Amino acid sequence: MIASANPLFGKGLQKIFIERWGKQAVVVGLTSSMAETLAAMESLQPDLVIVDYDDKILNRAEFLNHFMAGDRPMQVMLVSLRGGGAAVVYDRQALTPSEAEDWLNLPNIAHAPAEKQIPPRRNEMRRFVFLGILVILLSILVYAGLVNARILPVEASLQAVPIDWFFHFHFAAIAFLFSLIFVFMVYSMIAFRRRPGETGDGRHISGNTRLELTWTIIPLITVLAVATIGAQNLAETRQIDPQAMVVNVTGGQWFWSFEYPGTGVTSSTLYLPVNKQILFRLTSKDVIHSFWVPEFRIKQDALPGANLVRELRLTPDQTGKFKVRCAEMCGVSHAYMESLVVVVSQTEFSAWLQQQQAAASKDPVARGQVLATVNGCLSCHSTDGTIKIGPSFKGLYGSQVILSDGSTRTADENYIKTSIIDPRFQIVKGFESKANVMPTDFGKKLNDQQIQDLVEFIRSLR
Ligand code: CUA
Repeated sequence: MIASANPLFGKGLQKIFIERWGKQAVVVGLTSSMAETLAAMESLQPDLVIVDYDDKILNRAEFLNHFMAGDRPMQVMLVSLRGGGAAVVYDRQALTPSEAEDWLNLPNIAHAPAEKQIPPRRNEMRRFVFLGILVILLSILVYAGLVNARILPVEASLQAVPIDWFFHFHFAAIAFLFSLIFVFMVYSMIAFRRRPGETGDGRHISGNTRLELTWTIIPLITVLAVATIGAQNLAETRQIDPQAMVVNVTGGQWFWSFEYPGTGVTSSTLYLPVNKQILFRLTSKDVIHSFWVPEFRIKQDALPGANLVRELRLTPDQTGKFKVRCAEMCGVSHAYMESLVVVVSQTEFSAWLQQQQAAASKDPVARGQVLATVNGCLSCHSTDGTIKIGPSFKGLYGSQVILSDGSTRTADENYIKTSIIDPRFQIVKGFESKANVMPTDFGKKLNDQQIQDLVEFIRSLR
């Protein structure tokens, strides 16, 4: 039996019932007023009464009294269309007083306590707080992962500091955006998935101005901020030190060559003093190359043409060996266009430069003098006749020397060479106790030409 003053409610339900079970299986009575309903409950003796809960004509208390008074098994289903089709079923024989209370007092079934609904706003808040915490936790994990993955090589220049700071800023942004998308996507897939029996379409949303403004303004501010930080960063890496040392770099297919202006030295290995700004002036012999030492971070193109010399300032702040690479596709051997970069202390650098200069000199005496200086010979052997740790070089060549065993020898080329390579072999009388001071590895450190140059230098000190 269906009780409703609304013909659509009653007739619609009746149609559904007949379609489902057929006319024979279901006896349907349709009532539309209070008196009619009560009379029909007497005459039809229905098993189930479906009541339009939103219908004001049906007096709830009167209906309830009538329902409870009978003793034949009967069920009542209260259906509220305004409550989104929510329904509550009461059984005559099992009706509790509190259920009867709810039936009478609640304005809308959708809000009946049986549904145990949490107000949607609070529920949503809780959901967002939960997801927010997940996003923050995942962001921290992803950020830590990115930092610990050692994506960046060793930081070996002053200019690398702001660059790396900016990299870490990006890591943080990447970690946050990844987590934001990942958490909401996975949560939505689980929480809002289609459940068995759900065949309807999702809610149609045509727009949300607040949301659209938010996702326009936040990225706009972010992009502007990143651009500003980027510009500041660029300025920081280009700070000029007037004391900078110039190195002219030439790139070519496929080599690097480094010239130290004013010294006559050109090298295929890039030697640099630590903690000093180097001003690289870059050019190319043929096509475009790009000078890049990853540990120094910043790079610059080397362009062909004397009018297209590019500048790059770098301050190595860590000693060590690195590699300069070419970062611009320049032909078949582009990938192999690398040179050794050696960053050493200022003293070691000066020694290296002097040695290079000496090697570049055409005068063997001049080369020998530099070799004697940078290899430390002159700290023990004077050039003016003074006796220091070892005999003086002054007047040595061609002289007669008395050795520790009392024999006498002429200090000729052979004698001097042997003394350099094997200093313990023929010790000059009076220097026995100091013989161990002289290193024994000059035979390995110096080549034949360099030893010859040293002899020439000593020969010149008459
Ligand atoms: Cu030179 Cu790539």
